[in-house]
Amino acid sequence: MQSLVTQSTISKLTVLILTLSLSLQQLRTLSLSSCRAFCGTIAINYPFGLDDGCGAPQYRHMLNCTTDLFFITPSGGYKVQSIDYDKQTMTVYDPAMSTCSILQPHHDFHMTDIQSVIIPPSADTVFALLNCSIDSPVLNHYKNLCFNFSDHSCNELYGACNAFRIFHLVTNSSPPPCCFTSYDTVKFMSMNILDCTHYTSVIDTDNLKGIGPLDWVYGIKLSYSVPDTGCERCKQSGGSCGFDTETEVMQCLCSSFSNATRECAAGIVADGGKQNLWSYFHTVLLVVGALAYMGLYLMDPFSISFVF
Ligand SMILES: *[C@@H]1O[C@H](CO)[C@@H](O)[C@H](O)[C@H]1NC(C)=O
Ligand SMILES: *[C@@H]1O[C@H](CO)[C@@H](O)[C@H](O)[C@H]1NC(C)=O
Ligand SMILES: *[C@@H]1O[C@H](CO)[C@@H](O)[C@H](O)[C@H]1NC(C)=O
Ligand SMILES: *[C@@H]1O[C@H](CO)[C@@H](O)[C@H](O)[C@H]1NC(C)=O
Repeated sequence: MQSLVTQSTISKLTVLILTLSLSLQQLRTLSLSSCRAFCGTIAINYPFGLDDGCGAPQYRHMLNCTTDLFFITPSGGYKVQSIDYDKQTMTVYDPAMSTCSILQPHHDFHMTDIQSVIIPPSADTVFALLNCSIDSPVLNHYKNLCFNFSDHSCNELYGACNAFRIFHLVTNSSPPPCCFTSYDTVKFMSMNILDCTHYTSVIDTDNLKGIGPLDWVYGIKLSYSVPDTGCERCKQSGGSCGFDTETEVMQCLCSSFSNATRECAAGIVADGGKQNLWSYFHTVLLVVGALAYMGLYLMDPFSISFVF
């Protein structure tokens, strides 16, 4: 009789421990968010996302985080240097671009139509078209697309930069034409149409008065807009904004167990949210129940055995 009770108590204890550990495991995975918040040291916030379904659908597939963070365009991956969420800018650098210190082969800069609307280069990013032929449209019909900034003329680059001196040497008379212009020129005319062999780009051009080309910052500053889809409401309710990967409809990601449409408190009424919320409560109940059972068991093992 005594041995029979002991045996059933042990098997119940085994079941109890199994249940408890399973529940705890479930709880732990439930509290993990599925959207990565960082790539290296760069914070990834709305509207950007690294994992599919995170961030704004308009920015889908624009970033990849391998060893570094890259901004993906049809002309290649550009290394992201920084993202300024207050000023809504992202500074990128094209490792294949020529700069004052290095001359690299001809390369175009292309963005998708969506990219050129929602995240175009900023007004203080200037493109320098170098070694242009005298037939280039920017020297003829589209002359007015060229300008000087902060008292700098494009010809300065040929004299000040080691990388660009070669253009001057081969023509041994006057340096070949060049042009400082804005992104729109590069957007509508490829380098072939522009008839210039190289380009470089300079950022923060409003603050370069009296500073020589050797000390300019080369790269592209992109100025992004945040879609107005009610993300603030979602954030305030503790969620992060994402979207349904099939329909691209915005979703408030509350945690990996519950997606609501607008804000996290609304999870109970969202499709699927009801079931997920219930499974969460179920888990909590299991854990609480198991703890209570254990407490009772320790106090009076016989009464529990009797109940079972
Ligand atoms: C919530 O949405 C994310 C992103 O679309 C998806 O990966 C996840 O499976 C969804 N979770 C639930 C419980 O529907
Ligand atoms: C991410 O982008 C870089 C640069 O374009 C590329 O080399 C790499 O293969 C990409 N990785 C993935 C997983 O797409
Ligand atoms: C400069 O442009 C000319 C054609 O206009 C080209 O023949 C020459 O190779 C270019 N220079 C360099 C260094 O690429
Ligand atoms: C830029 O400055 C240079 C040198 O001062 C001048 O020759 C040129 O006409 C200027 N270009 C424009 C577009 O103002």
